[in-house]
Amino acid sequence: MEKPKLVISSGAGISAESGISTFRDAGGLWENFPVMEVCSADGFARNPRLVHEFYNARRKDLISKQPNEAHKILAELEKDYDVYVITQNVDDLHERAGSSKIVHLHGELMKMRSVTNPEYVEPLDILHLETTPETRGKNGDFMRPHIVFFQEAVPNMAIAQDLVHEADIFVVIGTSLNVYPAAGLLHDVRPGIPIYYIDPNPANITITSPQVHIIKAKATEGMRILRDILKKTDNG
Ligand code: APR
Repeated sequence: MEKPKLVISSGAGISAESGISTFRDAGGLWENFPVMEVCSADGFARNPRLVHEFYNARRKDLISKQPNEAHKILAELEKDYDVYVITQNVDDLHERAGSSKIVHLHGELMKMRSVTNPEYVEPLDILHLETTPETRGKNGDFMRPHIVFFQEAVPNMAIAQDLVHEADIFVVIGTSLNVYPAAGLLHDVRPGIPIYYIDPNPANITITSPQVHIIKAKATEGMRILRDILKKTDNG
């Protein structure tokens, strides 16, 4: 029997309890760094070295962090559901927690890509976490962080929209729904499909009940609550 398709859209909040800063909470990344200098196409053109250094620091921080229980519960749900993770996060915590189908909308911190050929991507390993504007890939191209900067297209958006459109259950977790097109995924859910939104400080969303269930909690607590709800629903 085919497993129901559970599609989840995760943001920085799911990694908060792993000790990784979100962007817009108090003390968040964009309070401490000028976002248009370190995460925009113009900023990268103006000062690529600053951008490389910003992502080198985030990569160094990431390797000391671990997936938290929210990532793990999500990975365990694959036993009973056909789970697809669509994430705005560039960390690899979903991968390390064991989720098997992950679509990164905003890139991946542990990879770098060719400046001239966006299809050419190389993984960064634990021994070579730092990149500079002079870093070259194995093919000789100059390389850049494999991050989707502001002012750049989101190449995996079409895939993400198709997945959300096929979802039997849609979950949004730990995102302020500030950034489009990712935030728009909510509107690709078919009518009548349940939407669960897990966030301790949820943004207000236009879709109303009975389709939307707000779980006002942190990710780990919220995923435990969601797991119990799904169990009850499964048992009819
Ligand atoms: N558990 C769950 N959610 C949390 C937690 C937690 N422990 N702590 C904070 N949150 C929630 C906040 O309430 C907020 O809704 O996580 C969300 C974080 O919002 P943002 O910092 O805006 O992060 P996100 O929505 O992922 O940002 C989207 O913006 O700058 C770009 O590319 C960047 O992918 C990022 C995008």
